[in-house]
Amino acid sequence: MFWVEGGHPLQGTVHVDGSKNASLPILAATLAIAGEVTLEQIPQLQDVATMRQLLQSIGAAVELLDDGSIRINAHDVRSSVASYELVRQMRASVCVLGPLLARFGTARVSLPGGCNIGHRPIDLHLRGLAALGADIRLEAGYIVAEGSQLYGAELDLCGPHGPTVTGTCNIMIAAALAKGRTRIRSAAKEPEVQDFARFLNAAGAQISGAGTSIVEIDGVDHLRGVRHAVIPDRIEAATLAIAAAITHGDVTIKNAPTTHLTSVLNALDLIGIPFEVTPDTLHIRASSRLRPARLTADPYPGLPTDCQAQFMALLSTIPGESRITDTVFPERFRHAAELVRMGADIRIQGNSAVIHGVTQLSAAPVMASDLRASAALVLAALAAEGHSEIRRVYHLDRGYHAFEQKLNQLGARIQRVNDGPKI
Ligand code: EPU
Repeated sequence: MFWVEGGHPLQGTVHVDGSKNASLPILAATLAIAGEVTLEQIPQLQDVATMRQLLQSIGAAVELLDDGSIRINAHDVRSSVASYELVRQMRASVCVLGPLLARFGTARVSLPGGCNIGHRPIDLHLRGLAALGADIRLEAGYIVAEGSQLYGAELDLCGPHGPTVTGTCNIMIAAALAKGRTRIRSAAKEPEVQDFARFLNAAGAQISGAGTSIVEIDGVDHLRGVRHAVIPDRIEAATLAIAAAITHGDVTIKNAPTTHLTSVLNALDLIGIPFEVTPDTLHIRASSRLRPARLTADPYPGLPTDCQAQFMALLSTIPGESRITDTVFPERFRHAAELVRMGADIRIQGNSAVIHGVTQLSAAPVMASDLRASAALVLAALAAEGHSEIRRVYHLDRGYHAFEQKLNQLGARIQRVNDGPKI
């Protein structure tokens, strides 16, 4: 649990860690490589620890090096089973499906369960693998995929809410080891997908077009060991920027991947937040004259859904009517009710939230429901008058490394106390 004393403007310099959502599929992909892989800039997060455990449970040797990088050797992997026990802890475990199938011709991966941010099917992953020739069936809660030889194919990965990020990665790696050429249409364009392709190409894959909606992959016989540094986390950078804005602070964010943050910077500009950028630094300057805004979370290059909750916290503090629509996860609004407990005025209408900003949020005991909701509640508590109590911050630890320490170094007053049972 966090105790947060609100009302302190953030000031100073903070450093962004490596990207969680780039690290997870890359870690999973090491299962398809028989040589040694060294990964730099992998953040120290609970989700990364879960993925490491998953790789070890399948038989990979995983070593944490003194310089913070991770060395993985999947040479001796013999199993291709990802158990329910681990997959249920983290949906991104499904990223091992493509690598296991590609290398061993068979994979048995537990079907992920429900999710607090809405309905999250994996039909597009399965449809894509089937298009490459895999035989897919569901058996006792597990996805069983078989195909000793996959073949390149033309496929379209567009779902009802746009492309799929981890689905694109799963198909890319399966196609990288298939026979012949694959063309993925409606591929996700996120920077994390681009980093995934860079990693695979360094390992010997032949992938072109990553970052556009059409990705072409020429299959190769095998992938080799490689060293790769993952990109900085654009969502952490955006969260820190919004923390600076909501406290009317003055913060320099280093290692910020500003070229990946165009939509976030456009949103900050619309709201009236002054900032300066270099390719790897974002400086947010104090301003108390902010404007309400209409924002839409869309697939990349749109505003990330992973920043929607944090922007909702910010807009709750700006007088006037704002609206945020989420086209990616149309039900991802569980944080709204908690923000209302802190005095925010928010109504949910379909896939949108209508926000009437208030001049002052007030402290309250609140409960985090997922990773980005936790971040939004911390930001709201930084701006609120009084002491807030935020429960279930273990959600936050899944995706932000030392978040309260980073904020405290900027002048926030956050204390971590025992969270109690995870109920
Ligand atoms: N979808 C389908 N069918 C599928 C796959 C997805 O209909 O087979 C739908 C989803 O329900 C959703 C949309 O397509 O409405 C996009 O989902 P996507 O598959 O892109 O999400 P994901 O790959 O499971 C990743 C991130 C999420 C992030 C989303 C969207 C990782 C490990 N996770 O999830 O990150 O919100 O892309 O950008 O990369 C987070 O970090 O807090 C987080 C949830």
